[in-house]
Amino acid sequence: MAAEREHDLIIIGAGPGGYIAAIRAAQLGMNVACVEREPTLGGTCLRVGCIPSKTLLESSELFAAAKLAGGRVPTSRGSAGETSSFETHGIRLVAVTLDLATMLGRKNEIVDRLTKGVDGLFRKHKIVRYLGHGRISGPGAVVVETGKETVALKARWILIATGSTAANLPGVRLDGERIATSTEALSYPDVPDHLVIIGAGYIGLELGSVWRRLGAKVTVVEYLDRILSGMDVEIATEAKRMFERQGLDFRLGSRVTGARVEGDHCIVECEGAEPISCNRLLVAVGRIPMTEHLGLETVGITPDEHGRIPVDEHFATSATGIYAIGDVIRGPMLAHKASEEGIACVEALAGGYGHVQYETIPSVVYTHPEIASVGKTEEELREAEIDYQKGVFPFSANGRARALGQTEGRIKVLADKKTDRLLGVHILGPRAGDLIAEAATAMAFGASSEDIARTCHAHPTLAEAFREAALALQGRAIHI
Ligand code: NAI
Repeated sequence: MAAEREHDLIIIGAGPGGYIAAIRAAQLGMNVACVEREPTLGGTCLRVGCIPSKTLLESSELFAAAKLAGGRVPTSRGSAGETSSFETHGIRLVAVTLDLATMLGRKNEIVDRLTKGVDGLFRKHKIVRYLGHGRISGPGAVVVETGKETVALKARWILIATGSTAANLPGVRLDGERIATSTEALSYPDVPDHLVIIGAGYIGLELGSVWRRLGAKVTVVEYLDRILSGMDVEIATEAKRMFERQGLDFRLGSRVTGARVEGDHCIVECEGAEPISCNRLLVAVGRIPMTEHLGLETVGITPDEHGRIPVDEHFATSATGIYAIGDVIRGPMLAHKASEEGIACVEALAGGYGHVQYETIPSVVYTHPEIASVGKTEEELREAEIDYQKGVFPFSANGRARALGQTEGRIKVLADKKTDRLLGVHILGPRAGDLIAEAATAMAFGASSEDIARTCHAHPTLAEAFREAALALQGRAIHI
C-alpha cells in the first residue's frame, strides 16, 4: 500500500453532485480530493445521461423536422396544423437521409469536450483526482483501488456522492445489447425496427422520442394507468396525446413480468396480455442508489429499505464526519438537486450556512414539446386540502410561439387562494425547460401571481405566456 495522503475533504464520485461540491469546497479554501472510478469525470449526467440524451434529442428533432418535408416521419413539428416544418418556412429539402454514425459521433464529441472541461476545472482549483474505486475503511479513512495499487487516504470529512444505477425487473435478463438500459440506448449502432420500452417515465419518453424520430416503431409499456407519474395529471394527459400523434404507442396499465432474447428478437412478457416481440428492449423503470462496496459497514451506516443512505438536514450520515448527497439520499434523482446539495453541504462544513430549498427544485422532461414543473401539482394541493386558484394560458395565443410554429401546450399557474403566493407552475410547450427558471426564481423569492402579472415581460417572447397565465388566474389575461 502506498503512503497515506491527507486531505480536508474526500469526495467519492465525480458526478454533478460530487464534482460541483469539489469545486465549491476548493473555492472555500479546502484541500479537496475526488475519487472517481471512471476515467472521465462528470458522472452519469455528463457521460451517459443528461448531456448525451439532450444531444441526441436535438439531432433527432432536426432530422424529423427535415424528414417531414418528405412526409415520412411523423413528429410534433408540423403536426396538428402547426406551421413549422421546413416546407412551410419555404425551405425545400430533397432526399433527407440519416447518417447515424455522424450523429452519434457528434454526441460523443460533445460529451468528450464537457468531461475534459471538468478535468480542466479540477486542475484550476487544484483538486486532487484519484482514478479508482473508493471505499470507506473507517472514520476519516478511504482506500482507492486503482487496479495497480491501493492508495490510503485520510480526511477530516468524507462526502459520498456515488449516484445511482439503472434498476431492473425480476425476470428481465439484461444482455447489454438487445435487452439493455439507457446507457446502451444512447448508442444503438442502427435504428431498431421495433423498440419496446418498459416505463413511461423521463428516460422512456426522452429516448423513445429519439428513436421514434429516427424511424423506429416504439411501444412504451407502463405499469400505471398514466405516463410521468408524479407530474401534474392534466399536463401529463395532454402530453400523452401529443406523443401519440408523434407515433409513440402506449400500453398503459400493463406490467412487464419478464423478457428474454430469442434468436435476433426479444420477447417481452406482459401480465394478462400477449407477449410482444421486438428488436430491442430498453428497461427504464427507475434507478437505485449506488452504495455497494462502499465500506458503509466499517462506519456503521445502514442504508434504508430503498437502499438510500439516511442523512439529516445538513447531509450528515450517522457516522461522524461522513456526509452524503444526490441520488444516494432521499429526494428526486436529478442532477441539479445533487449539485445544490453538494454546494449546501460543503458551505456548511466551511462554517457557512448551507440550505437547499426543495420546494422550488424544477424538473424537466426534454421531449418535444418539453414538459417542466416546479412546486405542487393540482393533485398534491387537493390531497393536502390547500385552497388554490388556477390560471392557464395556451401557447396558441402567444405571438412568439406562433412565429416559431410551436403552438401546442399551455402554462398553468397555481396560487394560494388566500395569500396569492405561487404554489406550483406546470408548463407543456416550447422551451418549457428554460421558461421554468423564471417560475422557480419567483417561487424561491416567495412571489405571488400578482407579482408575475405586474412584471414587464419582453415582447415577443414565450415568457409572456407565463405572465398571461398569472393574469388569467385573476381573470384578466389579455390575449384569451
Ligand atoms: P421513472 O421513475 O421516471 O419512470 C419509471 C416508470 O417505470 C414508472 O412510470 C413506473 O411505473 C414504470 N414501471 C416500473 N416497473 C414496471 C413494470 N414491471 N412494467 C411496466 N412499467 C413499470 O424512471 P426512469 O425514466 O428510468 O428515470 C430514472 C431517473 O432518472 C428518474 O428518477 C429521473 O428523475 C432521472 N432522469 C431525469 C431526466 C431529466 O431530468 N430530464 C432524464 C432522465 C432520467
